[in-house]
Amino acid sequence: MSLHNSISVRKRHPLIGAELTGVDLRCPLDNNLFERIHSLWMENLVLVFPNQSLNDEQHIKFGSQFGELEVHPSLAHRSSKNREIYRVSNVDESGNIIQSSETAWQYINLSWLWHTDSSFRNIPSKGSILHGIETTKEGGHTLFANMYEAYEGLNTSIKKQIDSLHVIHDHDFIIKQSRDLSKKRDKGSYENLPPVRHPLVQIHPVTGRRSLFLSPHTMDYIVGMESNESRNLLDELIHHATSEKFVYKHTWENDDIVMWDNRCTMHAVEPFDNTSVRRIMHRVTLIGDNQPISTEST
Ligand code: OGA
Ligand code: MN
Repeated sequence: MSLHNSISVRKRHPLIGAELTGVDLRCPLDNNLFERIHSLWMENLVLVFPNQSLNDEQHIKFGSQFGELEVHPSLAHRSSKNREIYRVSNVDESGNIIQSSETAWQYINLSWLWHTDSSFRNIPSKGSILHGIETTKEGGHTLFANMYEAYEGLNTSIKKQIDSLHVIHDHDFIIKQSRDLSKKRDKGSYENLPPVRHPLVQIHPVTGRRSLFLSPHTMDYIVGMESNESRNLLDELIHHATSEKFVYKHTWENDDIVMWDNRCTMHAVEPFDNTSVRRIMHRVTLIGDNQPISTEST
């Protein structure tokens, strides 16, 4: 009996998200185990591994088995010890709650909006792996939407209308979503990230399935479309894709590891009281293997 037979799988939602138990992520994965986890990931889009008390180095090692890790463009949110660790937290590295008026919080606060990670890059992220270190009881849970199903749920005429469209994504657009941050002179330190163009419908490089590629926090406009029309169509698609039936809400426990595919999901953090409740999450982010594949290339 090979080791991976001991993995148990339990769906957390009919369309998206499965819990995997019986695996210790601190140990290197042999080929069979890697393939099993990878195929469960492709099938379920979001994997939840409860009770994994990884330190940051183990987290990085686990993630690296799935590909190269990105260093986040926001300088203030990288861990000072490991630059591949992105701190999604309202608590600073000294353990103090970050004030709502601080730039560092106002940037993280934008993860409350629906998005996919690193959609502002020419090659967006393949997937993200998040470790819940100090999790919340009230609010602060994370919503994940299945973008394959969202695409399939559109009527044929809309599919035809959007199949060949492209969208300009821009990191600066994230900042513009924050009323506080957009008014500040010091908006934080980020690497230089020029706007990029991505298809609105993309083909998943592994599964070959079509999905909507939306990332509301970076989507500026649809190429070649009048500005109001573009905004209305994007808003309509976002509204549709985030319908309850497509969404799994992950209720966090400490030491959950949650791994999602950024090519066929989007996510948002549920609001919580960031002034009194502590929330510390560490993320590693997998660099994408290729630019998003448009339907025109098929
Ligand atoms: C992220 C993010 C999710 C969360 O890490 O990409 O958006 O639950 N955060 O904090
Ligand atoms: Mn995110």
